Amino acid sequence: MIFAANLKCNHTRESFKSYADALNKALKNKDEEIFVFPPNVAFLKEDLKFTQGTQNFYPCFKGAFTGEIGKEHLDEFGIKCVLIGHSERRILDNEALIKAKFDFAKEQNYTIFFCIGEDLKTKNLGNSKDFLKKQLEAIDLNYEKLIIAYEPIYSIGTGISADKEDISDILETLSVLTKAKLLYGGSVNENNIKEIQTIKHCSGVLIGSAALKIENFIKLIKG
Ligand code: 13P
Repeated sequence: MIFAANLKCNHTRESFKSYADALNKALKNKDEEIFVFPPNVAFLKEDLKFTQGTQNFYPCFKGAFTGEIGKEHLDEFGIKCVLIGHSERRILDNEALIKAKFDFAKEQNYTIFFCIGEDLKTKNLGNSKDFLKKQLEAIDLNYEKLIIAYEPIYSIGTGISADKEDISDILETLSVLTKAKLLYGGSVNENNIKEIQTIKHCSGVLIGSAALKIENFIKLIKG
C-alpha cells in the first residue's frame, strides 16, 4: 500500500524537519511506499527513509521563469518524484502546462503522481467517467513510473470521503485504461482508511489534512 502525504501550503522547513525526523524514526528501513510532498521551501537534503516529492515544478532545467523552480532546484534535494494535475493547481495550470509538466517529468524518468478528479456537478450529471478520461488524454498511460491519484474535488478537504461504491466504480474503469497504480485521495482519515484500502484496484492513498500532523500520518501508515 502506498501512503502519500500532500502537505500543501503547510509546514516550514523547521517544522518539516521535525516531521521528517519523526517519520524516519517510525520507519526502520527505507520504505519505497511512503511519500511526502512538502512545500518547496521546506525540502530537506538529508537521507530520508521515505520519498520526498515536489507538489509543483516548472518544466525547465533553469532559466528566465520568475517565481518557478526547475530541475536544477529539484536535483539539489535529490527529488525525482512529482505531483501533477492536483485540482488545487488545475485552477492555475492549463491543460498545455499540465501536459508539458508530464512530458518533462517523463523525460527525466521521475515518478509521477498524476491527479484527476471531478466536481459534484459533473458527478451528478453522470459525466464522471468521460470527464476523468479527458483528464488522462494528454498523458502516456503506459509510463512505468506513473501513479494515478483519483481525488474527487467534492470530497477534498470536507472530512467526508467519496462513497466506496463510487471510488470502486471509478478505479475499475481506470484499471482498464492503465496498469499504473491507482490511489484514492479526498478526506482519507483514520475512520475510513481501512475501508478504502479494501477497494479493488486501490493501491494506496493520497492524504491531505489527516497527514499534517506526523503522529496522525504514522498512525494511518501503521494501521
Ligand atoms: P484532504 O485529505 O485534506 O481531503 O486532501 C486530499 C488531497 O487533496 C491530497 O492531495
